[in-house]
Amino acid sequence: MRDINEMLVRRGYLWQSFEIYGGMAGFVDYGPLGNGLRRSLENLWREYFVINERAIEIDTPTIGIEDVFIASGHASSFTDVAIECESCGKIFRADHYIKEKLGIETEETAEFVREVLSTYNLKCECGGRFKDPENFNLMFSTTIGPGKGKPGYLRPETAQGIFINFKRIADYFRDKLPFGVCQIGRAYRNEISPRQGVIRLREFNQAELEYFTHPGNKKHPLFKKYNNLKIPLVDKNDVEHNITLREAVEKGIIAHELLAYFIGKTADFLIRAGIKKELLRFRQHKDDERAHYAVDCWDAEAKTSYGWIEIVGIADRGDYDLTRHKKYSKEDLSIFISYDNPIIRKVKKVIPKMSELGPTFRGKAKKIANALENYSGEIGESIELDVDGERIKVERKFFDVVETEEKIFGERIVPHVIEPSFGLDRITYAILEHSFDKDVVDGEERYVLRLKRWMAPVQVAVLPLLSKEPFTSKAEEIVQILKNSGFFTERDDSGSIGRRYRRYDEIGTPFCVTIDHQTFEDSTVTIRDRDTTEQVRVKIDELPNILRSLLVSERDIKEFGERFR
Ligand code: GAP
Repeated sequence: MRDINEMLVRRGYLWQSFEIYGGMAGFVDYGPLGNGLRRSLENLWREYFVINERAIEIDTPTIGIEDVFIASGHASSFTDVAIECESCGKIFRADHYIKEKLGIETEETAEFVREVLSTYNLKCECGGRFKDPENFNLMFSTTIGPGKGKPGYLRPETAQGIFINFKRIADYFRDKLPFGVCQIGRAYRNEISPRQGVIRLREFNQAELEYFTHPGNKKHPLFKKYNNLKIPLVDKNDVEHNITLREAVEKGIIAHELLAYFIGKTADFLIRAGIKKELLRFRQHKDDERAHYAVDCWDAEAKTSYGWIEIVGIADRGDYDLTRHKKYSKEDLSIFISYDNPIIRKVKKVIPKMSELGPTFRGKAKKIANALENYSGEIGESIELDVDGERIKVERKFFDVVETEEKIFGERIVPHVIEPSFGLDRITYAILEHSFDKDVVDGEERYVLRLKRWMAPVQVAVLPLLSKEPFTSKAEEIVQILKNSGFFTERDDSGSIGRRYRRYDEIGTPFCVTIDHQTFEDSTVTIRDRDTTEQVRVKIDELPNILRSLLVSERDIKEFGERFR
């Protein structure tokens, strides 16, 4: 961890924010390379979860008005328990502190924490006693506008921006389920004591897909692609299963095919991005661990030097969010689903008898007759109706019942949501750890970042063998060719060629192109592979096409030119 963190800062991947003022836990700055890697990750994510799904991407504000978070439940339920030391004033997140000091998993309630503190006489690291535990809401609050303003919050997830736009988006999809809506952007959580670098941030990046589906159709036509995928599945009772995703659905370990599909697709995406398959598992949330909105949730976890960390959460949110926003906004967030063929249904209709109603109910008779005509509940020996706020019992002699056939063309439903939610910072960090390696080349130890070629922030480094003319001009000419072809390219003239190779190995650049004496004789250059350190000689004219083929695949450079060493 020390080696990689030192390299990440020194070489321009990432570092703590506000450094020159002493820094602040929970915030990181992405340098040029870190930013480039996260950009590659976002683009790959789009390829998987937008382009290759029936999905669209939107962009909504990072500040939300209070109404949104009252409806979503975050204003009341998005809390952690905090404990503050009476002597030194340090504040800890109770569940983390208790786990660290006592090895006990804690329920996230102030009552439970209070009991643990007293049973184990747990004290602060300084020896001081803790004050009474308190629920702490993780949302950053703000005010919108001058003066007292209107209360608002920085969004704790990008998802709410999607739910509150549901009507317009359903319209875009012409009410045809299933469809997905994505958002990539910042989320904010005022974490109590973030002490794990990039893992627990107060401002971080999410890529979320809200996949809206008919409650009765939690399937996906492409599930067969992941049917036979085996990836460790740890269920909510901590039992590990090494079975295929199809078997996990059949045995009820994963609740339905759609969840299993997104588990499979997430695994595929993460491995393609550079997470090592042997350091990846999926873990189901325990019953007392799930967020307030989830009926089931599986986390993708990557093993790092911080232990197993959650990098993606895949939740079945049911109809929780749409139903809540429907209730609080009073907007109809259901959609009408037309049946392919109308259904014929036998219905009983109530026919009021005016000749009986008139003499008994007089002035109210007409309204009672209307209410009877519109009645759709159980029909017994009497019917109870609300007429102008008055409860009226209407006996059987005041109406007839006839059976008719009705054509039903469809139904109104509130869709369910399956949500794969990706933490881009944690994934970026896990990729960096899984790619970081040391080996020995020509008797010398080197650091090498074995990023997947398609993820590397600098894809090609152009290196003139000597830092003088005509090598440098030729190098610049080739840099321009490669940049015009769309490659992230750097040129480096300084230091011995061996040192320059090491520099680019360390930041994960998959290919170095070298201009040497022979370049001026036959218009060729060498391409060097970061991982194998093999080199081949190729024609400059062919360089862009060769690099393009190499950068999207794991093909061997020896396929493309004569070996050179
Ligand atoms: N919309 C659902 C949601 O936000 P979550 O499990 O709370 O679910 C999703 O967050 C992902 O966001 C997590 O799997 C994690 O990768 C990332 N994440 C959550 N809190 C984070 C934090 N404080 N710092 C960095 N990443 C975080």
